This record gives sequence, structure tokens and C-alpha cells, in this order.
Amino acid sequence: MTAQKTGWTKSSWKNYTALQQPNWPNQELYEQAIGSISNLPPLVFAGEIRTLKDMLAKAVDGEAFLLQGGSCSEDFANCTAPGVRETLKVILQMAVVLSYAGGKPVIKVGRIAGQYAKPRSSDTEMVDGLEISSYRGDMVNSPEPTVTARIPDPDRMLKGYYLAAATLNILRAYTRGGFGALHRVNAWNTEFVKTSPMGRSYERLAKQIDQALHFMKVIGFETDHPLINQASFFTSHEALLLGYEEALTRQDSTTGLWYDCSAHMLWIGERTRQVDGAHVEFLSGVLNPIGVKIGPSREIDDVKRLVEKLNPENEAGRITLITRFGASKIEKYLPSLLREMKREGYKIVWSCDPMHGNTYTADSSHKTRNFNDILQEIQCFFDINWAEGTVPGGIHFELTGDNVTECVGGGRNILDQQLKQNYQTNCDPRLNAEQSLEIAFQVAEMIRR
Ligand code: PEP
Ligand code: CO
Repeated sequence: MTAQKTGWTKSSWKNYTALQQPNWPNQELYEQAIGSISNLPPLVFAGEIRTLKDMLAKAVDGEAFLLQGGSCSEDFANCTAPGVRETLKVILQMAVVLSYAGGKPVIKVGRIAGQYAKPRSSDTEMVDGLEISSYRGDMVNSPEPTVTARIPDPDRMLKGYYLAAATLNILRAYTRGGFGALHRVNAWNTEFVKTSPMGRSYERLAKQIDQALHFMKVIGFETDHPLINQASFFTSHEALLLGYEEALTRQDSTTGLWYDCSAHMLWIGERTRQVDGAHVEFLSGVLNPIGVKIGPSREIDDVKRLVEKLNPENEAGRITLITRFGASKIEKYLPSLLREMKREGYKIVWSCDPMHGNTYTADSSHKTRNFNDILQEIQCFFDINWAEGTVPGGIHFELTGDNVTECVGGGRNILDQQLKQNYQTNCDPRLNAEQSLEIAFQVAEMIRR
């Protein structure tokens, strides 16, 4: 196990530059909210975090595969039982496809139960000739384009904590209480997906799993086992608001080590991954698995320094590098990165985010992504890894279980002019349930090669 870093405290990040922090208008109210959160119970536990890290260590060598997904930005209003259930369901379905057809155990991590804060390229935006603060996620302000709605309100962090707790509670109930049982793979096929070609492929696969379970039972294996009747599911979000993350950073009573107990896995975004920045300093001292987004602005030497700072002992499962170059740039940026990191001997889970490098604005002025670009970036990611002798260890999506029309293409070939039919996101466009499942079938082929 990795030792705690010397010189680090949960507030040492304050000596470094923290980008992307909201301009809280009232410091006293901000401190009060942070103080309240630091007295509240942790959302996840050190033992669970260690379990995830051990599983991720297997993905380094290709003995497991990471599936991470959820909304770009969770809405407070979508913290409902159906909202959480549908997202969980699509991730579990994708995992079934990837593990059964792809032949590898799948580590399921949601962008959920705390994915409430967003980095923005600009502090303000112009709406009808008026300059207003940018929307920074429901934990900071409200998406309505008015001056007052966009004022950062620290009580939203407290509300975010409670909604994350409510989300985790229902996730734990669903995954432990039988909803996530493999016996139910067929029942998860929603009406909507059932009537599509993708739904029928899924149904065939679910039937095979049913038959396999039945066969095990017939020959005397006990299928009433936690591995079969409970799904393991972990949470993650971008560790952006460092005051909030610090408030949930706790010392594990059994080991004396520090963990950020706001989620099992935290990631650092493309905009806040400076080696000498506050986000990297903060995350260098907590022992959670850490993801780092890597986009086309990457300098290989910086990535090396980052990995050295975050994982000086080269512990497997600690670092996931999530590349997000875009379908047209991945061939330029990924091969040399993989090669250099391999040469250094770093233990890394390589994961592909095929979303953030492929965003564009459609003629209808909706922010969107094309299904084919997403698929193409993943295919390149696999091909390049195989060519370099490295391991494609995971995929990272923005998706929802709802029948949204936010990304174009896919089996139903959603067109630009159809985006408006059910465009729900306040932030980036997500794959809907059917598009997500379609991707899973394709990725399963790539894993199996
Ligand atoms: C995100 O994952 O929503 C995000 C903002 O990603 P990135 O930091 O890679 O741009
Ligand atoms: Co996003």
C-alpha cells in the first residue's frame, strides 16, 4: 500500500493556484457551507475505495476493463429514483455486453452522485447583449440565463452533498437489493430498447446468459451468490471545487491514511491538470484512484511529471489516463504518448474518452457529437494500443438512460434537425440508452479482437 505523502495536508492545495473556482460573492457564507459539509458523514468509505483500486490494478494488465459513464453534469432536478435507475441500468447493460461478449470482467464506475461542478472556457457569457456569469454546474449556480440565477450560491454545495447521499443510497439499494442481479439482465431491456435492432441483439445475449445461469444451477452450482445477485458499482466525479473535496477528505480510522470520501474515484480535468496547480497538489495526497484527462495540448514531459507527482511509487490502479484527443487527432497524439509512458515503465490504466474531442455545434445551434466520430476514436484507440504493445484498459462516456436526442447518428440515425426533439442536457451532449448499447456491442468486438 502507498504511504501518505510527506508535507501534504488536506488544505496544502491552498498554497497553489486553483483554476476554475467560482467567485463566491460572500466568503463568510462559503466558509459556513464548507464547515457544515466537513462535519457531515463521508459519502463513501476507504475500504470501498481500496477495492476499486485493486480492481483497476487488474485493468493495467488487461485482466479487467473499466467502463466509466454518466452525465456531463448531473442536474439536481434529475435526482429521482427513475433518473438514477435508468442511468444505472444502461451502464449495467453495457457492462453485461462488454463482459459477456468481450470476455473480460468490467469495472463499473458512474459519473454520478456528485458530478455537479463544471469547468468553463470563459467566466462569463453574453446573453441578449448582457454579460452574465457562466453556468458552472448545479453545485455552483443555476443554468437559467439570468444574472441572478448565475450568482454562485455556496448552499448549493450543501444541497449537492445531500443529493449525492440520496443518489448513493438508491444506487446501493439497486445494486445490493437484487435489481442488479444477473438473473435480471433480460428484465432490464426497456420497452424502448426492445423494439429496436439493438434491443433485439441485447435480448439474444441476455437469453444466453439466462441459459448459462440455468445450466450452472442444473449441474449443482449455487447461483444465489453475491457475485451473481449483486452488482458492484462505484462513483466518480471531476474533483473541481477543492473546498468541497477538502471538506469530505477523511482519515481512515483503520490505517490512518487520507481518502477523499466524496466519491470512489476522482478525476482531474483537461483544464486543471497543471503539475504545479492546486488540483494536482490536492489529489497527490489522497489515496483514491485518480483519473487525469489528457487532450491535444499535452506535452509528454508534463504528463510524466504529473504521473510522478500523483503516483511516485508507481502503484497499479492509482492512475487512469483518460485520453480525449478527438477522432481526427488521436493518431497524431496517442502513439508517442503511449510509447514514452511505456518506456518509463509507468503502470497506467489507459482509458478513452471519445466524447470531449468530438464536440461541435450543429446548424440548429445545438452542441452535439456524431456517433461515427465517437466510434472511430474508440477504434483508433484500440488499434494504436495494440500496435504499441500497450493495453486499452477502459472507456469513458457521457451518456444517459433516457431517450434523449443530443448526439447525432447511431442505429436510428438521429439527424441535426431532430436534436431539438428531446435535447435535455445543460452541458455536453450525451449518448442515449440505445446509442450507448450500440457502442458497447462494437467495443466488445474490439476487446475480443
Ligand atoms: C468532462 O469530462 O465533462 C470534461 C469537462 O472533460 P475535459 O476536462 O476532458 O474537457
Ligand atoms: Co463534458
